[in-house]
Amino acid sequence: MNKVFNRTLITSALPYANGPVHIGHLAGVYIPADIYARYLRLKGEDVLFIGGSDEHGVPIALKAKAEGVMPQDVVDKFHYIIKKSFEDFGISFDIYSRTTSATHYKTASDFFRKLYEKGEFVEKTSEQYYDEEAKQFLADRYITGKCPHCGNERAYGDQCESCGTSLSPLDLINPKSAINGSVPVLKETKHWYLPLDQHEPWLKKWILEDHKEWKTNVYGQCKSWLDMGLQPRAVSRDLDWGVPVPINGAEGKVLYVWFDAPIGYISNTIELTDEWEKWWKHEDTKLVHFIGKDNIVFHCIVFPAMLKAEGSFILPENVPANEFLNLEGDKISTSRNWAVWLHEYLEDFPGKQDVLRYVLTANAPETKDNDFTWKDFQARNNNELVAVLGNFVNRAMVLTHKYFEGRIPVCGELTDYDKETLTEFAAVKSELENYLRNYRFREALKEAMNLARIGNKYLADTEPWKLAKTDMIRTATVLNISMQITANLAIVFEPFLPFSSVKIKQFINESNLQWSQLGQIDLLSSGHVLNRPELLFEKIEDETIERQVRKLLDTKKANELKEHRAKPQKNNVVFDDFSKLDIRVGKVLECRKVPKADKLLQFKLDDGLGGRTILSGIAEHYNPEDLVGKQVCFIANLEPRKIRGIESQGMILSARNTDGGLSVVYPSKEVLPGSEVV
Ligand code: 2FM
Ligand code: ZN
Repeated sequence: MNKVFNRTLITSALPYANGPVHIGHLAGVYIPADIYARYLRLKGEDVLFIGGSDEHGVPIALKAKAEGVMPQDVVDKFHYIIKKSFEDFGISFDIYSRTTSATHYKTASDFFRKLYEKGEFVEKTSEQYYDEEAKQFLADRYITGKCPHCGNERAYGDQCESCGTSLSPLDLINPKSAINGSVPVLKETKHWYLPLDQHEPWLKKWILEDHKEWKTNVYGQCKSWLDMGLQPRAVSRDLDWGVPVPINGAEGKVLYVWFDAPIGYISNTIELTDEWEKWWKHEDTKLVHFIGKDNIVFHCIVFPAMLKAEGSFILPENVPANEFLNLEGDKISTSRNWAVWLHEYLEDFPGKQDVLRYVLTANAPETKDNDFTWKDFQARNNNELVAVLGNFVNRAMVLTHKYFEGRIPVCGELTDYDKETLTEFAAVKSELENYLRNYRFREALKEAMNLARIGNKYLADTEPWKLAKTDMIRTATVLNISMQITANLAIVFEPFLPFSSVKIKQFINESNLQWSQLGQIDLLSSGHVLNRPELLFEKIEDETIERQVRKLLDTKKANELKEHRAKPQKNNVVFDDFSKLDIRVGKVLECRKVPKADKLLQFKLDDGLGGRTILSGIAEHYNPEDLVGKQVCFIANLEPRKIRGIESQGMILSARNTDGGLSVVYPSKEVLPGSEVV
């Protein structure tokens, strides 16, 4: 039996306030949540859309330490940057607050205390790493060491970012404190654990049997966690940044960030409305969490277990988590600056929020990871927004101004073709709503765009600019219908492209349009006065896109430079060993590629000793003709070797760049062929 809901509580993952937000955040979480919230509001439903910054956790504490500031300074800076980006992109939160608010400290503390008093935690003492210099326990991220799986020297205590393996600090080889590099010692500490193993039976039924309708990626991930068997999870940490554990004997301990962050949804609702309990505790509220795939276990298993343990809260009805958005083929990464930051996008594309909203929805990672490319961004803007939606609205408006002085003309008798168009138009509505209700926003957007396509085709087929020469009555009907379609587009695009929807409403001089009116063809009565239109979208030129691509290439280069480190030095040799090598300078007389060997160049050198042939593996780095006439250094007394049937009488010296590139070594002043290198 389908449940009946009277209101919808929408939450979107609280982003960490340790950096700005980028297109991945927008595509994965905030745009889908915003489309859903706007759609339900337009339908006149009771909706709350909750957002906020996640301001605790080790990365924030570490960042503050590295910058020599307080964690509060870090989160103050980024909370406002993030909040502004969301406002700029029209993410229509009813509240955007933060987990350092007084309300949140109280709510999270009360929540913990209630679970503690109900005996919902298991208390356990275990050995954890302790930094004796800094006099503190080291949370997982505060410990680095060698990964036992891949040998990466800089793995963290919770994960190796090189091979992706989940680790525990005790797995690391040669662990070091991330605070000061000292070697930590093991020391006993007490923590509180949520016994997820005890929650497993009801979680299994609730998810695997009662929520089969959840998205495949979400259901699948939950199933694999549940199949593996759940373990108790610590909900406290030894750390000096976070909500203090609110019981006696817990000095120096704070709530684990993943315990307090989801409670932030509740705190922010409390901050917003005195009626918060209606939203969180009444079975007729539909609770929906919008998140990215890395948050699935916390929202589908851990947080529900916390809510159930508390006892008076409802559970989520759905968790439509998305996969990840990549950027030009690579994983988006804050630390490698591989991202399109929202505030930077708006500096480069002022006023084009809807273009990005459109592209990120059309290409949303709903069922699999997707890629954002600037070429696709340009193509979707030019071929879809400009050529279809913008073009239709503009033509309908301009023609109505031209032939009817900007007033809605009278609709005459409809032809069969008009009726067909309107039937087709009406049919799209139910399909589109179905997609929206099922969190399939890319498909929904496609349907909305189809409405604009129907309009475009209608104008192209009826050609009112030709009709106007002979039949003003028919022209009036065609433009009346076109303007009714325009008004419908203002409604249907409101959830997706809110800024453009407002513009269309300004053009048509009608701000009061509801979702229930979608599909009607009497939204604008005859005689209604229109305003003058502007272009809704403008073409994006190749140079603009090339600039963005260049910016990313620069980032890639900078990262490569950072990532390529010099090789460790080899063992020492005695001078006698060095002096056994006879290194000379020669002049290149001839240089050519060795047939069927991609890497080899064949040199003929004037070596001052009668000439010699040397093969060198630098063909991928030079054009042979560019080297003719140049001086090079070579080892003259290397045992000759036959390579591909050619005898190589020595070795030409090259410098190997840390990125692998090869560069031939030559004397800084020209010397005579045969000169020694000493
Ligand atoms: O993954 C993240 O960015 C977390 N800050 C999300 C927290 S969601 C919720 F629990 F607050
Ligand atoms: Zn590893």
